[in-house]
Amino acid sequence: MKRVDDFRLRLGKHELVPIMIGGMGVDISSADLAVEVARLGGVGHISDAMIKTVSDRRYKTKFVKDKLALYKYNVENEDKSDVKFDLGKLVEATRLHVEEAMSRKTGSGMIFINCMEKLTMNAPKETLKVRMEAAMDAGIEGITLAAGLHLGSFALIEEHPRFRDVQLGIIVSSVRALQLFLKKSLRTGRLPDYIVVEGPLAGGHLGFGMDWAQYDLATIVAEVMLFLKNEHLDIPVIPAGGIFTGSDATAFLEAGAAAVQVATRFTVSEECGLPEKVKQEYFKASEDDIEVNQISPTGYPMRMIKSSPGIGDGIRPNCEAYGYLLDANGKCAYVTSYNREVALHPGARKIAVMDKTCLCTHMRNFDIWTCGQLTYRLKDTTRKAADGSYQLLTAEHIFKDYQFSTEQKIALPE
Ligand SMILES: Cc1cc2nc3c(=O)[nH]c(=O)nc-3n(C[C@H](O)[C@H](O)[C@H](O)COP(=O)(O)O)c2cc1C
Repeated sequence: MKRVDDFRLRLGKHELVPIMIGGMGVDISSADLAVEVARLGGVGHISDAMIKTVSDRRYKTKFVKDKLALYKYNVENEDKSDVKFDLGKLVEATRLHVEEAMSRKTGSGMIFINCMEKLTMNAPKETLKVRMEAAMDAGIEGITLAAGLHLGSFALIEEHPRFRDVQLGIIVSSVRALQLFLKKSLRTGRLPDYIVVEGPLAGGHLGFGMDWAQYDLATIVAEVMLFLKNEHLDIPVIPAGGIFTGSDATAFLEAGAAAVQVATRFTVSEECGLPEKVKQEYFKASEDDIEVNQISPTGYPMRMIKSSPGIGDGIRPNCEAYGYLLDANGKCAYVTSYNREVALHPGARKIAVMDKTCLCTHMRNFDIWTCGQLTYRLKDTTRKAADGSYQLLTAEHIFKDYQFSTEQKIALPE
């Protein structure tokens, strides 16, 4: 009987265990997790979501404080178009995070960075270019383009000396999205090195509408592979979303996938960036506790635990400190919703905003508990202590369980 370890993922000159841990912002897929996965021979991701606040927390910089001081005059203003990112500081923060992770890397695996296009940062092109180029300058081995169609992303970095040597991948949820991406990117004379096909059971934002439940990962993967075959394109395909056991992964590898991308099982690893209390919430969650809703200002549906403290919270927008979701015109759907509620409740000390959330603030504070659909199975992957708490797992334990297990078995920790 086959298992994941019988397969290898080839990327450039690298031969890897075909397990990729997906990017999880904001610092949920921490450098610790990525370094450990690389040591084990797989592909780990850091994320550049809210990189300045991550840098402040990890490396004692003062980027957020400085930005807030600069734009303090605008805090009460409904119009956020003035609030810009200092590109030099964005470079600095990205370099710090990437260099720190790369300097600790050992083993035969690789470390990539997840770059979401939907972090439009009040200057989408300029900021995305700087983010990707700074990551390449700092030695990142791959960039996974996420949360967006990325039609112009290759062109943004085609002049960079590492454009043809760094591994570049794209996350898609349909053949159509892939076709559009390839058509636009081909102008740079470069194909992606891998394609992550993310299905409807994934965590974070979804590349589907609210009818996500009608889609099925295996079907989309088969469609993508057929399309590539017909186009005579030989690009590794990496399914993601709801691959919970080594056997689930092996089934995709046997069907022709080059690797799998997984995330949910690692949210309860010791190395994961979530606070311990939140990891316990992930363990405790039942299927009914998980929902896909539309409160993300990005416009994409997002999956999360229903009791996330950030849902419904009507805090004043924090764009002067963060502002990662301001679009090219300085607008964010949460700011609009917040202002509507303030106008409807004059004089109220506290308001609720139900239709959107201040995603920057709440992801920064780990108060939106985004998760994969199969989070409710995490409790079956560990032991429960007498006090009702669940035992955290090492990333190594989870990784090796994926790598070696068969027959849908999940190894419990010692
Ligand atoms: C907590 C959490 C946060 C995530 N954040 C991101 C993100 O910032 N960017 C992204 O492209 N995907 C994100 N994802 C999706 C994962 O990278 C991955 O593709 C997917 O969750 C795999 O499915 P699984 O969680 O069922 O294993 C996130 C997933 C989780 C569970």
